[in-house]
Amino acid sequence: LRLRDLGLLLLLAALAGCDGQQSALNPAGAEAQRIATLFWWMTGGALAIWMAVMGIALYVTQAHPEAHGIRSARWLILGGGIVFPVVVLTGLLIYGLMLMSQLRPSEDVALRIEVSGEQWWWRVRYRGEAGEAIELANEIRLPVGERVAFSLTSPDVIHSFWVPSLGGKVDMIPGRTNELVLEPTRTGTFGGVCAEYCGTSHALMKLVVVVMPRDEFDQWLAAQAEPARVPASELQQAGQRAFLANGCGACHQVRGTEADGTLGPDLTHVGSRLSLAAGTLPADVDAFQRWIGHTGAIKPDVRMPAFGMLPEVQLSAMAHYLSGLK
Ligand code: CUA
Repeated sequence: LRLRDLGLLLLLAALAGCDGQQSALNPAGAEAQRIATLFWWMTGGALAIWMAVMGIALYVTQAHPEAHGIRSARWLILGGGIVFPVVVLTGLLIYGLMLMSQLRPSEDVALRIEVSGEQWWWRVRYRGEAGEAIELANEIRLPVGERVAFSLTSPDVIHSFWVPSLGGKVDMIPGRTNELVLEPTRTGTFGGVCAEYCGTSHALMKLVVVVMPRDEFDQWLAAQAEPARVPASELQQAGQRAFLANGCGACHQVRGTEADGTLGPDLTHVGSRLSLAAGTLPADVDAFQRWIGHTGAIKPDVRMPAFGMLPEVQLSAMAHYLSGLK
């Protein structure tokens, strides 16, 4: 492997990070666009400083090989080391301050969403028309082209909310509420992560953000506000009985049933979600069964105990019940 090929490989690897659904360099929101623009200006500034310093160094050593000692050092220190970087960095500072002044307050937002980072999942709360909480987990849906304010907090340790395609990251700190305003500019599905180390399964704390047209969003939110659907099949009914008999309702809520726990994720419409266990698994029947039976093997140190000691038929019935909660 020659050096040139290695350089090409590294460049390709770096460019791969610019694409996809979770990239700050492929912005899908007004805030992310500002961050990407600033990034490219800073990269350009850094490149300009590097080229100037290298240029001066080459000039001094090549054009004046006889000049050495203090005279050539003066060139380097004054030109490349002080004057040029100060000019470029001052320009970038002014540009950055101008961008900061464009950050708008969160008063005129279309929607407010409360998000709580918990070890290792995201509690997401919308408010219905009467102010009642519509709670879900690990999935956020947004109407395109509207400003949304997020209230971010945590009940346990510090987490950090980051959806790179939509905007910057903000820490979620126990005992206080931070605010973040985002304005998605195109529809699509985007990935979010926890960006602050928060314990064993920090890397398994992912989030799905779906940006959709306003009317689809309204329909989705109205469906989420409904109580859970009554299990249709015999298998799903058996699953619900097993769910309640094994005490799952002590931690999980399924609105419209006697399961009213608040410690873990609300499961009222868990079957409608795009992922399971905070972006760790797909949301299909098999994944539900694997998750219930082997939580700790899939997400180390997770609070939810594994129920692998239950008979296979019960696990399967519960998986059918939960994945049927659309
Ligand atoms: Cu939550 Cu890292």
